[in-house]
Amino acid sequence: MQRFTLPRDLYHGEGAMEALKTLKGKKAIVCVGGGSMKRGGFLQKAIDYLKEAGMEVDTFEGIEPDPSVETVMKGAQKMLEFEPDWIVAMGGGSPIDAAKAMWIKYEYPEITFEEMCKVFGIPELRKKAHFCAITSTSGTATEVTAFSIITDYSKGIKYPIADFEITPDVAIVDPALVEGLPKKQVAHTGMDAMTHAIEAYVSTANCEYTDALALHSMKLINQVLVDSYNGDMNARAKMHDAQCLAGQAFSNALLGIVHSMAHKTGAIFADYGAHIIHGSANAMYLPKVIAFNAKDPVAKKRYGVCADYMGIPGANDDEKVANLIARLREMNDLMNIPHCIQHYGKDSYPTEVGFVPEEVFLERLPEIAKNAIADACTGSNPRQPSQEEMEKLLKCCYYDLDVDF
Ligand SMILES: NC(=O)c1ccc[n+]([C@@H]2O[C@H](COP(=O)([O-])OP(=O)(O)OC[C@H]3O[C@@H](n4cnc5c(N)ncnc54)[C@H](O)[C@@H]3O)[C@@H](O)[C@H]2O)c1
Ligand SMILES: [Zn+2]
Repeated sequence: MQRFTLPRDLYHGEGAMEALKTLKGKKAIVCVGGGSMKRGGFLQKAIDYLKEAGMEVDTFEGIEPDPSVETVMKGAQKMLEFEPDWIVAMGGGSPIDAAKAMWIKYEYPEITFEEMCKVFGIPELRKKAHFCAITSTSGTATEVTAFSIITDYSKGIKYPIADFEITPDVAIVDPALVEGLPKKQVAHTGMDAMTHAIEAYVSTANCEYTDALALHSMKLINQVLVDSYNGDMNARAKMHDAQCLAGQAFSNALLGIVHSMAHKTGAIFADYGAHIIHGSANAMYLPKVIAFNAKDPVAKKRYGVCADYMGIPGANDDEKVANLIARLREMNDLMNIPHCIQHYGKDSYPTEVGFVPEEVFLERLPEIAKNAIADACTGSNPRQPSQEEMEKLLKCCYYDLDVDF
């Protein structure tokens, strides 16, 4: 038996935010980040719509990017005092993920952060509040997923909370919120979404339900992402839906080692100034991982289907895999994303000499490889890498070498 869980309602397209008027309850708390939602007038709009629904409204503002355990505890405290029956989280992955964790702590004040992190171990929610997520970035799809990523800064580690209990009740995917998204973020989060779609499709936990979502989303992303990057607002709106479809796929089919490697390289070179942004890491590693996984016959066939759906030609699966890799690299070039860690420079743009020195990379390589293998996303990858293979794969991602093993 497999489970497939999505929000009860998903409002999308122009004017979708107005769905807030239809929520039924007495009190709503709106959780937001640093200010982009306030500046764009979206926070006020949300408050007005919720008041129109007859609710008393309070806010929790200032949730930082990559939210901390402390922020989660502070927000939960505010919820315990205000006692909302709706939690409305609005913004990128950071405020929505933080609000999901606050929700758990609000429902179960005695629960510790460690207990929250037990995979599929969250007790039953919705005894106090329901959850509505309004996304303002086009990549994480946390508005529809069973995941939340919280950082314990005392340990320097990002912890995933994973349970269908935290899949939101209502998701709002309104294109107006992403019109002002900075170009670089369009590129990174867009390639993150592409990685979600492709990894979900070849994941060992795939099923017919997730396949349909994954294939359509990768086709759309291939069609519209570069245009969205270049400022086409119709493409930007389509991309907002496409990333959400990819999220629906991976929330139920899980991911693979592109994400394992991105998780474990993201902060490991921070002492050299290289915070390797999640989407950018995925964009660099995805072509390498496709070449590695394609040695598995089932995965190769599946990548061939990805190419077919994306309109990428090839006389056989080998050609299709090669052309799929070439297309992904072309997308990186068109959006100014580097191909490898060695050339990962300032603002994550390609540069001749990147942040991470070769000797530092080689010294840390065994540990990174070990951690990547142990990452939660490795289990559903179609090919299980050995320590030696993971080290070789990471080297290919550092030097931009072809994967021939
Ligand atoms: N829950 C999941 O399934 C999942 C999946 C992948 C990543 N994540 C997590 O999500 C977080 C990243 O989320 P994100 O990429 O959405 O970014 P984010 O929420 O961290 O926001 C990044 C920056 O963009 C700004 N911003 C957001 N929307 C904007 C808009 N429309 N216009 C202008 N500026 C805007 C924010 O103010 C912030 O400064 C990380 O913590 C990551 O670990 C979660
Ligand atoms: Zn991702």
